[in-house]
Amino acid sequence: MKGVVLAGGLGTRLYPLTRVTNKHLLPIYDKPMIYYPIETLVRAGIDDILIVTGGNSAGDFLRLLGNGKEFGLKHLNYTYQEGEGGIAEALGLAEYFVDNDKVIVILGDNILEDDITPYVKAFEKQEKGAKILLKEVEDPERFGVAEIEGDRIVRIVEKPQVPKTRYAVTGVYMYDSKVFDIIKTLTPSERGELEITDVNNAYIRMGEMTYDFLKGWWTDAGTFESLFRANRLIREKRMKEKMAKEQI
Ligand code: G1P
Repeated sequence: MKGVVLAGGLGTRLYPLTRVTNKHLLPIYDKPMIYYPIETLVRAGIDDILIVTGGNSAGDFLRLLGNGKEFGLKHLNYTYQEGEGGIAEALGLAEYFVDNDKVIVILGDNILEDDITPYVKAFEKQEKGAKILLKEVEDPERFGVAEIEGDRIVRIVEKPQVPKTRYAVTGVYMYDSKVFDIIKTLTPSERGELEITDVNNAYIRMGEMTYDFLKGWWTDAGTFESLFRANRLIREKRMKEKMAKEQI
């Protein structure tokens, strides 16, 4: 399975922090933000990874990450997204890279406590379609929100004013190679972007979407509040790791 990290966009919700640099290069406690999604993929055994960047400071990714030696990788792939066409458009740029393989996509500002290996293994066994990971949150109106009937996911609504559930769709998506045909059928949303939620709803309509709930904490880092929260969560994690080490 191939891995794609989406790290483009202008990060306007974080202005002026992102006026001269890319959001995914900002620090989360002791590492640049982009390290975390790459680590999440590598921990799950994904070693063929494409970074889609864009906006400010795209060249800095190369200087920072090189060929991914720090992550135990032999090679990293890069591509460039022009403008603010949205998550689905950015993923569309990975078509040549994914080819006929399956792909796991992670948003560059999504930070997870969990090791996602079990979900990746489950998707490897899934014959076709897609899989998303959900997390119950306090502020679902900020996210894609999943509506579930019985054990079936029936719809995802992007940033609903009145969310029907508290189940946020996290920025970890697994797809078969049909995803690229689906992306080609999309039209821009009100915010002028090709929405990943439209891709997911297409899989739901085909009856090919599965889901799991994340157990550990999950956060994005694209607003001042969530960026702060991400820093706090990683700091707490580091403190726990340090204490565990000292006890040995
Ligand atoms: C995007 C997706 C949304 C998802 C979120 C996860 O939102 O559109 O469905 O829940 O990522 O971080 P955005 O960050 O583009 O507002």
